[in-house]
Amino acid sequence: MTQPVEENPQHIEARVRLVRRMDQGGVVLPSSLAEAFLNTPRHPFVPVFYRREADTFVPWRSTNGDASAWLSQVYADDSLITEVDGLHAEDAGPGAVTGAPTSSSTAPSLMADMLDALDVREGTRVLEVGTGTGYNAALLCYLAGAENVTTVDRSAGLTSTARSRLNALGLRPHIAFGDGQKGLPARAPFDRIIATCSVRRVPPAWFDQCATGGLMVVPLKGTLAGGMLARLKKLPDGTAAGHILHTPAAFMPLLSGEQSPSGAPEPASREKRGSTLSAGVLDDWTFSFFAQLHMDPCTVREFCREKDGTHVTTLFDGRDGSFARVADTPDGPGAQVQVSGPRDLWAPVERAHETWLALNRPRREWFTITAGPDGQTVAYTDPGSAVHRWAL
Ligand SMILES: C[S@@+](CC[C@H](N)C(=O)[O-])C[C@H]1O[C@@H](n2cnc3c(N)ncnc32)[C@H](O)[C@@H]1O
Repeated sequence: MTQPVEENPQHIEARVRLVRRMDQGGVVLPSSLAEAFLNTPRHPFVPVFYRREADTFVPWRSTNGDASAWLSQVYADDSLITEVDGLHAEDAGPGAVTGAPTSSSTAPSLMADMLDALDVREGTRVLEVGTGTGYNAALLCYLAGAENVTTVDRSAGLTSTARSRLNALGLRPHIAFGDGQKGLPARAPFDRIIATCSVRRVPPAWFDQCATGGLMVVPLKGTLAGGMLARLKKLPDGTAAGHILHTPAAFMPLLSGEQSPSGAPEPASREKRGSTLSAGVLDDWTFSFFAQLHMDPCTVREFCREKDGTHVTTLFDGRDGSFARVADTPDGPGAQVQVSGPRDLWAPVERAHETWLALNRPRREWFTITAGPDGQTVAYTDPGSAVHRWAL
């Protein structure tokens, strides 16, 4: 049970404003979720977070000058980055840092959408993969009861900080440090599994540890980006089936084992060709998710806008050195493609786009997903009842 905590009225007002904003912003906010957000403070979990300044991140502390500006950012419907390349904002000096975010507190309306899809009730046994700040775990404790909540993160520092902050609010869920890709067999089975980091496909351990009839809400994202949320139900035959949800979600990836360094290699020689497809086509998350289904999973994408505004997409596969640089043509549609290595990596994107148009650009929530021992499949049934399937 949550112990009564002496509350600053400003904090309560900030939460009320947040819930009102979420409710007006098109998020389905059932009363149980509104109650959870109203009763669970966010500020104890994010005393310091990073603010983006151009390409850098600058720590913002509650004690940095304007406390009310800090509080309104904490209760804005935004994600708050708390760790960059493993450096927690609380451990950073006052200056800017550069790198890739490795932990954050998710935007509240996205959390609400995921919790709504997860359908958590008092007594539901829940596993969260990606403890981060502990704020989502606190909401889960409110909804399910802390004794039913298990949360795991790959960072020992994050789990220990989250534990002290949850404990300070009187919440004692089971908090584990480890690779959440393996789930937590000692605490299984779970009625619900929620991941707050993204995976290319659902790790088998999560199926094994999900109880029959249980639900999993999992952010799916490949190296082309294009994040989606899948909601799967575990069936009596041990397989799982469900849908891609309407809400897009760009979660940071689940990290497991050694990380290979990113960064496209500079190819030795390049052949040039034209393409009718713009370099920015993969910025449409639904299409990039669809395109990913047609690509080798090892293809890595990077993209940028050059100083003159040209959109440049780079695709590469470190295994055989295949490389494509796709730059928008300055006047009009289409792009210039420079390829090197044994495979033209832009060609499968072009083919995927043709299929996409032929299917009349299906919306993400029209895709179903099934998973079992034979693999994971995404399917779309067109209005003529033809079923199109792709391996995830
Ligand atoms: C978006 S943050 C989680 C937000 C969190 N739920 C909250 O409320 O603050 C993603 C988290 O996933 C964690 N993560 C990444 N790979 C992981 C893995 N293999 N196992 C467990 N956690 C992992 C990161 O350390 C990071 O804290």
